[in-house]
Amino acid sequence: MKIVQISDTHLSPSKTHFNDNWESIARWIETAGADLVVHTGDLTIDGADCEKDMTFAMELMRELPVPVLIVPGNHDVGHLPDSDQPVDAARLARWRKLVGPDYWVSDHGNWRLIGLNSLILGFENAEEERQFDWLEETLANRSGRRVAIFAHKPLFVDDPAEGDTGYWSVRPKPRQRLYDLMAQHDVALHASGHLHWAWKGRHAGTDLLWAPPTSFIIDKLEREMPGERLVGAVLHRLGEEHIDSEIVAVPELTPHIFDHIIDEIYPRAAKRLPEAAR
Ligand SMILES: [Fe+2]
Ligand SMILES: [Fe+2]
Repeated sequence: MKIVQISDTHLSPSKTHFNDNWESIARWIETAGADLVVHTGDLTIDGADCEKDMTFAMELMRELPVPVLIVPGNHDVGHLPDSDQPVDAARLARWRKLVGPDYWVSDHGNWRLIGLNSLILGFENAEEERQFDWLEETLANRSGRRVAIFAHKPLFVDDPAEGDTGYWSVRPKPRQRLYDLMAQHDVALHASGHLHWAWKGRHAGTDLLWAPPTSFIIDKLEREMPGERLVGAVLHRLGEEHIDSEIVAVPELTPHIFDHIIDEIYPRAAKRLPEAAR
């Protein structure tokens, strides 16, 4: 079985900067011969506040000739409690109405694919607990299947034991709960997006992967991170027991540079930048 993972498409009918790249990646998906597409979030430019971004992006997803499973990103359902757009009931309801469940399970032969909503991690509220209860149950009743987890945010950036990285990764407390569950259930893969950097690694017996975006890379606005800046996708080939994951740079995609267009795309984020970086 072949899964294509795409991430961070950042689509919108009004901010159209990355829509051409959608056409290119859709064609590439067809030629790659994928059985399934998994999208690891930031489907939209601003689905967190703009319903039209979400309906527009979903129309494009539905044109793909294979099934698509999607987990939300911070630009789709909001982010941490102290952010400009915190996840709330209205944002989650919009996602669930227009896209589908924000966490899900999908079985394929010997594999159980699990999609997580990483944006509700760290809230310490009922939504977060409900997802953890569901995850525990979903791992416990996997009936010997191997497990691959897909989520928007990576578990960590530089070090598995690092402190709170704020915007970039899962907070230490829910991260530890995920580590414990992953170890207990022999999870083969945790694959994410969000960073707009592509990287492969391994921690405590689990393969880790950050998918490249299809939209933009970040030049000097953020610090260097592990891995590579590129636009592309990931090919996951699932064997009986093992998963082989290949990060693919897709030359048909334009590597837009965020630094040059941040004022147009995310004006609120641009305003927060120190003067020197603007
Ligand atoms: Fe993104
Ligand atoms: Fe993101």
